[in-house]
Amino acid sequence: MNHSCLIQQAQILLPDGELMTGDVLLADGVIQSIAPHLAAPETGECIEAQGLTLLPGVIDPQVHFREPGLEHKEDLSTASRACARGGVTSFLEMPNTNPLTITQAALDDKLARAAAKSLVNYGFFIGATPDNLPDLREAQPTCGIKIFMGSSHGALLVSTEEFLEPIFAQGTRLIAVHAEDQGRILERRKLFTGNNDPAVHSQIQDEIAALNATQLALKLSEKYQRRLHILHLSTGIEAEYLRGHKPAWVTAEVTPQHLLLNTNDYARIGTLAQMNPPLRSPENNEVLWQALLDGVIDFIATDHAPHTLEEKAKPYPQSPSGMPGVETALPVMLTQAKKGRCSLAQVSRWMASAVAEAYGIPNKGKIAVGYDADLVLVDLETYHPVLREELQTKCGWSPFEGWNLTGWPVMTLVNGQVAYNRGQFHDQVRGKALRFEP
Ligand code: DOR
Repeated sequence: MNHSCLIQQAQILLPDGELMTGDVLLADGVIQSIAPHLAAPETGECIEAQGLTLLPGVIDPQVHFREPGLEHKEDLSTASRACARGGVTSFLEMPNTNPLTITQAALDDKLARAAAKSLVNYGFFIGATPDNLPDLREAQPTCGIKIFMGSSHGALLVSTEEFLEPIFAQGTRLIAVHAEDQGRILERRKLFTGNNDPAVHSQIQDEIAALNATQLALKLSEKYQRRLHILHLSTGIEAEYLRGHKPAWVTAEVTPQHLLLNTNDYARIGTLAQMNPPLRSPENNEVLWQALLDGVIDFIATDHAPHTLEEKAKPYPQSPSGMPGVETALPVMLTQAKKGRCSLAQVSRWMASAVAEAYGIPNKGKIAVGYDADLVLVDLETYHPVLREELQTKCGWSPFEGWNLTGWPVMTLVNGQVAYNRGQFHDQVRGKALRFEP
């Protein structure tokens, strides 16, 4: 054994959802044993974890980390530090960088950049265009195909059934859709021309725009029995539709923003609340929560989409859509668990094991012998607010600033190596490329 480490007397969240006080021995990046008491290794480190809770590291299945091409907003160093501080040990990143990730060469470039810079494990989507079918079928390794059905422009927009159908018809790998009806959005934009109130964003890109696209994606997925994942579900009507029409091969996710922020937040934070798909009414928050609790929605993603404060200060609609999230998502959700809205085990399932299962990521998402030692020790006893000056994301702001949260990561381990420890980063740690099994 090269590198071993003993985590002592943590409250360990086991795969059956039970908490056990005990020790976890890690060696060579893998969990070796779990027991009430284990002997300290002859070489290696001991981590005293009394009073802390040990959870599987978060796998965030939708982030926009901006490298290459948009590094003024974020880069793989700042983003992966934000991940480590937020207990995110693996991420799946989206193709709307510059150049777009629509070829094997662009995918290889991202993998090389991440190998050189990322503190945490990484995987990348390949983006669909109306004419890159061979790349979509053959590119490796990738977690899946990302289709922007709406809310995009240029090559990454695939909004009509004519161009969507061949993508669903050919190949077998997972298709993840940003489901908004671009035709409807363009029509509705005309109705609000000249209106600079960011709140109209939710009226322009309305609930029907989201439902139309989700229904179209489901129709094509059923026709070809094609593995489909619906990204950032935002409306109650989509959730209720899915409740009745969700084939076994379809999964869906929701963001903490769509669960906990709503159209009232435009008055609080203006364009910082602008994202795609937009925030909805408080009633939608409730329906999405229920769908998550009922298993209609399978897991949680942050849709971490950083933009600078300068960019966000532009008047709507010049202001860009998107909010950061990797750093706050776990404490935001653990605070909800502490309030009794869900259980600790459910939060961990939604943010780790369910994601690993959906994307076929082997040996991740659980604290079990033989699993990768991607772990986070959180403190569920103290509360600490989201403070701008502590944020690691390059954009330097959060929609949750001022929220008093519990469950902040104290230590984050990536493949058995400490990447983050009580405010300190071990910047020499590097994550690994994720594998995806069909
Ligand atoms: O609000 C959003 N911003 N939603 C997306 O899906 C894309 C993202 C971005 O890249 O800025």
